[in-house]
Amino acid sequence: MPESLTTAFIQQDWDAYSESQHAVWETLYARRMPALRQTASRVFLEGAEAIGLDATFIPVLATLNRRLVSRTGWSAVPVEGFLPAGEFFQCLAHRMFPTTVTIRPADRLDYVPEPDIFHDVFGHVPLHADPVFADFLQQFGGLAAAAATPAATERMARLFWFTVEFGLIREAGAVKVYGSGLISSHADAANALGPTCERRPFVLEQVLEQPFRIDELQPVLFVVEDFGQLFESVERLSP
Ligand SMILES: [Fe+2]
Repeated sequence: MPESLTTAFIQQDWDAYSESQHAVWETLYARRMPALRQTASRVFLEGAEAIGLDATFIPVLATLNRRLVSRTGWSAVPVEGFLPAGEFFQCLAHRMFPTTVTIRPADRLDYVPEPDIFHDVFGHVPLHADPVFADFLQQFGGLAAAAATPAATERMARLFWFTVEFGLIREAGAVKVYGSGLISSHADAANALGPTCERRPFVLEQVLEQPFRIDELQPVLFVVEDFGQLFESVERLSP
């Protein structure tokens, strides 16, 4: 791990969370998990179980990481807020997922523009318990960190957006959500699986050329057949 990265890391002061902050987690979990049992990838559901996500309180990252590290070597590393893209990708290349430890206020449960611990941990981290997704994300991080031109960076941002954030997967004939933006948001998931979103088969070249906007419901998303397809993509992009 390059030393320059570690300056961004903080400690999660779990005892400092208030009752009402745990209640926000409990509310968000109760809103999403029952629906996700029908609409989410089994990889998410199994991952959430494997890392021991609790329905009633904000996770203790150190406890969660003990389970995660022993499975795939990934860990969720607390950070203050947004990391510059290069540092973020460097962390991924080292199997560390920069994680916000704050939680959204109770009066803004549905939409917060910046990530919080519900998006980062509930939305992202369960997939890191899957060996194939774990390898994909590490390799993606290395490639994205090495992107040498703005155009190359843009293409990697698209790959991230249409997989890690807003990816869909076909399981037993049905399209399921796995991207964190869909896992953590009812409105985005409903849009992704509904009639107004065009769901295209995942084709790497098309994903790399597909622009996106972060401030609207997604009109186009991509469906993988399995996570092996993601791993093959980063293999193909590797020099
Ligand atoms: Fe995210």
